[in-house]
Amino acid sequence: MSKQRVLSGMRPSGKLHLGNLVGALENWKNLQEDYDCFFFAADWHALTTEYNGTEIIQESIREMMIDWLSVGLSPEKSVLFVQSRIKEHAELHLLLSMITPLSWLERVPSYKEQQQELTNRDLSTYGFLGYPLLQTADIIIYKAHKVPVGIDQVPHVELSREITRRFNFIYGPVFPPPEPLLTEVPRLLGIDGRKMSKSYENAIYIADSPQEIRNKVGQMFTDPNRIKRNDPGNPDICNVFAFHQVYSSAATVEQVQVDCRRAAIGCVEDKKMLAENIVAYLSPIHEKRRGYLQNPGLVNEVLENGCQRARAVASRTMEEVRAAMKINY
Ligand code: TRP
Repeated sequence: MSKQRVLSGMRPSGKLHLGNLVGALENWKNLQEDYDCFFFAADWHALTTEYNGTEIIQESIREMMIDWLSVGLSPEKSVLFVQSRIKEHAELHLLLSMITPLSWLERVPSYKEQQQELTNRDLSTYGFLGYPLLQTADIIIYKAHKVPVGIDQVPHVELSREITRRFNFIYGPVFPPPEPLLTEVPRLLGIDGRKMSKSYENAIYIADSPQEIRNKVGQMFTDPNRIKRNDPGNPDICNVFAFHQVYSSAATVEQVQVDCRRAAIGCVEDKKMLAENIVAYLSPIHEKRRGYLQNPGLVNEVLENGCQRARAVASRTMEEVRAAMKINY
């Protein structure tokens, strides 16, 4: 039996952080073993909100790709590509827009939320409203079965299912309805205890040097009730402990948990241990990073090859779409 297809995209936001790594990339890396995977840089999606600052997008794609490759996304196992280089996404987006009721787009939760949140730019644009429809085109043009996404993106995949159903009903069956693939992932907060995010300046980056990692881990918030060295701590509410659970051995996790509760280890010492474990974890990744940085042509080659493979699939689907819609004249 042939493998099911997985597809996911990420906006090119430059260097990726440990939240991206545990939240998405580690999962994508594992999916490569069991699925036929397509992963892409969603650069047109970046334009929906960053249309005023487009000059950073190209470099952001590059940095993101270097991180993808360094953490183990493999150009042999997966198709790695850039959205805007496959013009068929735009054609399908346009055709789907003809059958998409406005109300379906207006009720997508991220539409109103982001308009309220990102008040420093005008998001009352056609492109921003249509963003989840472009996402639908991204997914179904590859006939993906599973879409690994975070919980915030599930309504977008649901919309894709509804559009798929409507298309198949009007023009005949072309697309399998895609399903979100939600995986339990550990939740790592930024060093200030808020969601880890580039815009909060609280992120630990995959590319951070050992010294930067030691500095940042040293600044991390711990159990707020543990003020003095002799106060017993509660690892369950400590972000440093959450990181230990990802980056330290089972034995260390157990030891830290016991020692923290009886104040046998202080936060400073605890963080030093954690920092070294993160540094060790990232060391082979940094090694691969250096390889890609020294050989910039390699990333171009990977993308050239990935785009070719993606384009072959997308253009075949578009032939089917035009035939089903009787516009293949
Ligand atoms: N909207 C996604 C995000 O902002 C990125 C994305 C674009 C995507 N197209 C996609 C994710 C298709 C999954 C499938 O994170």
